[in-house]
Amino acid sequence: MDRVLIDHAHCEKKAAAHALSIMSRYADETGVARAMAVLAREEAGHLAEVLGILERRKLSLGRDPGDPYAQALFKRAHSSGPLRQVDLLLASGLIELRSEERLSLLATHLDDPELAAFYQRLCLSEAGHAALFFSLAERRAGSRYAERERAWFDAEAELIATLPVRPAIH
Ligand SMILES: [Fe+2]
Ligand SMILES: [Fe+2]
Repeated sequence: MDRVLIDHAHCEKKAAAHALSIMSRYADETGVARAMAVLAREEAGHLAEVLGILERRKLSLGRDPGDPYAQALFKRAHSSGPLRQVDLLLASGLIELRSEERLSLLATHLDDPELAAFYQRLCLSEAGHAALFFSLAERRAGSRYAERERAWFDAEAELIATLPVRPAIH
């Protein structure tokens, strides 16, 4: 569980930084930049909470070993063209959705009531983030959305089947 908590802290840190990088990309779009700023603040709040748990357990964050799941997903995105943004948003939505699923599993199965309640609260928040990314992707993809969404869910399923099981959120 210590390793899961450390991985989780790294995930929240990257989620906050990712939201700010998307904010820069959509700086001209009314509403989107602000939504990303709010998201970054929420993820930074999660990070502070996980860091508090690490401190109480005398654990340190240490070096980020990287997240093979997220890295492989982003590698699949178009490198340019109109689908680039749609792909990045869909990949971001999938990562949030998967976080929600994993945090929900922790909330359901952990014996520690405090930690279970923490994960229950966070999983609801990650579900909201997934919905935000998917709605932004849909707005950009228009009539191509259903096809792109299907392709991404299929690719993610294939990817997950190739990844080893490890004490991590993804
Ligand atoms: Fe988060
Ligand atoms: Fe999130």
